[in-house]
Amino acid sequence: MGNSKILVVGATGAIGSFITKASARLGHPTFALVRPTTAGPHSSKKELIDSFKASGITILEGDINDHESLVAALKQVDVVISTLGTAQLPDQLNLITAIKEAGHITRFLPSEFGDDPERTVQTKATDVLFVDKIKARNAIRAAGIPYTFVNSNSFASLFLGSWIFRFESLFSASWAFSFSRFPEQQELKLPRDKVTILGDGNAKGLKILVVGATGYLGPFITAASVRLGHPTFALVRPATARPDSSKSKLIESFKASGITILEGDIQDHESLVAALKQVDVVISTVGGAQLRDQLKLITAIKEVGHITRFLPSEFGNDPERSVRLKPTDAVFQSKVKIRNAIKAAGIPYTFVNSNSFASYFLASLGQRDLTTPPRDKLTILGDGNAKVIFNAEEDIGTFTIKAVDDPRTLNKQLLIRPEPNTKSINEAVLLWENKIGHNLEKTYVPESEVLKQIEGTPFPNNISLAISYSVLVKGDQYFEPGPDDVDASELYPDVKYTTVDEYLNRYL
Ligand SMILES: NC(=O)c1ccc[n+]([C@@H]2O[C@H](COP(=O)([O-])OP(=O)(O)OC[C@H]3O[C@@H](n4cnc5c(N)ncnc54)[C@H](OP(=O)(O)O)[C@@H]3O)[C@@H](O)[C@H]2O)c1
Repeated sequence: MGNSKILVVGATGAIGSFITKASARLGHPTFALVRPTTAGPHSSKKELIDSFKASGITILEGDINDHESLVAALKQVDVVISTLGTAQLPDQLNLITAIKEAGHITRFLPSEFGDDPERTVQTKATDVLFVDKIKARNAIRAAGIPYTFVNSNSFASLFLGSWIFRFESLFSASWAFSFSRFPEQQELKLPRDKVTILGDGNAKGLKILVVGATGYLGPFITAASVRLGHPTFALVRPATARPDSSKSKLIESFKASGITILEGDIQDHESLVAALKQVDVVISTVGGAQLRDQLKLITAIKEVGHITRFLPSEFGNDPERSVRLKPTDAVFQSKVKIRNAIKAAGIPYTFVNSNSFASYFLASLGQRDLTTPPRDKLTILGDGNAKVIFNAEEDIGTFTIKAVDDPRTLNKQLLIRPEPNTKSINEAVLLWENKIGHNLEKTYVPESEVLKQIEGTPFPNNISLAISYSVLVKGDQYFEPGPDDVDASELYPDVKYTTVDEYLNRYL
């Protein structure tokens, strides 16, 4: 089992898109090799590619006939699935050559997805299909590549669906030609809803509403919800949902990945009730300024009465175990207030203790004015030895969605603190120095000086400095778990998350 990284070659084809989405839905880091023209902004498959991106699939530009691009793509993955069309079957030999050369691929599934070519009657018309598949099988065996051949039999939409009647010649000598053109046949649109049989049946199918989906963290949560097979809804303010809004592209990508947009506002009770009626679970990712407005959401959740889990906007430190300074009161006190209101209302909840967003704290190595790791010098608050927990935002999304229907996380705090991601800033800097091959010039700011700086910094910058003090100087993220805490890594050992070490490689 596990979460192997999967590359789909032919992802934008008919069966390819289903395989690709099933891979993402089942939690695999998923990559699609897409030809540069198909990946371009004017491609007829742009919508499909946008929906791939929205579900967290990485697009790698390349071509089966471009050896370099194949080698580069293979370096990033463990498993390769080919869903190339009939016309490209002979070119699969190029892929087999590259896989053999790469040497580390744990499984290759060539483009089969039909009859067993070695047990099927061959006519002149079908030779093109079956002979090339047998050639690929033989080449794979000869190269000693670990393989699985998928004998999927008939695609229901082709052989059971209505268009069979439009192709009376299906079983005549001309059918191979029709089949080879299948992906391009616009009128033969695959029934994308029906073919969810390829997946895991949508888990329990809990419907998830994300309030704050268009913020920074929100898209990571919605992407994970879609990826893990949940019908997903986003409450979006009417102005944000307008076609001329600065977030229109994001909203289009939500729609393309199947997310239902519900117009509403946390301030508008009617809109909240209408949205809540359609879902089972509510996740709030509203920002600091709206934390207290969540009281309105709590009132609406209490009123509808059927919500099985509410995850308020936490996604950081445990607010009850973090040092409070004047500037952070607005954040931590509001979060505690919301916790208490949820408990008082008897709403089933999970608080997500996601710790530091990697892109905020790790990508900058704790520098508040940088977005990438410094290469010459840096400033370290305190002595740099406090333990910090850094998590990639997409992993926060995955762990959060895993928890929504798990009885073990009911009325608990979910601690996202994988051991390899628990590092002091000094340790993270050392890792980075080893990667870039030289030491950085370090200036340490003593704790007393950090406190003075917080005092002298105007709003709103004093908030981020005070949060940095809690995280980087006081080490507030690293505490002894209590009876109300559950550890995400222990609950979900199958989740393959990005480690601090791997994350830093993104900046090399
Ligand atoms: N651990 C860390 O390192 C870290 C870092 C940053 C944040 N956080 C935490 O993560 C959580 C999310 O923060 P964020 O930075 O992702 O938030 P954000 O980017 O400020 O997003 C705010 C979201 O709330 C929506 N919203 C605002 N007013 C609304 C209203 N009246 N009705 C409905 N929706 C409304 C916004 O919609 P529009 O698009 O319409 O504006 C947007 O989608 C917070 O709890 C924050 O404390 C943690």
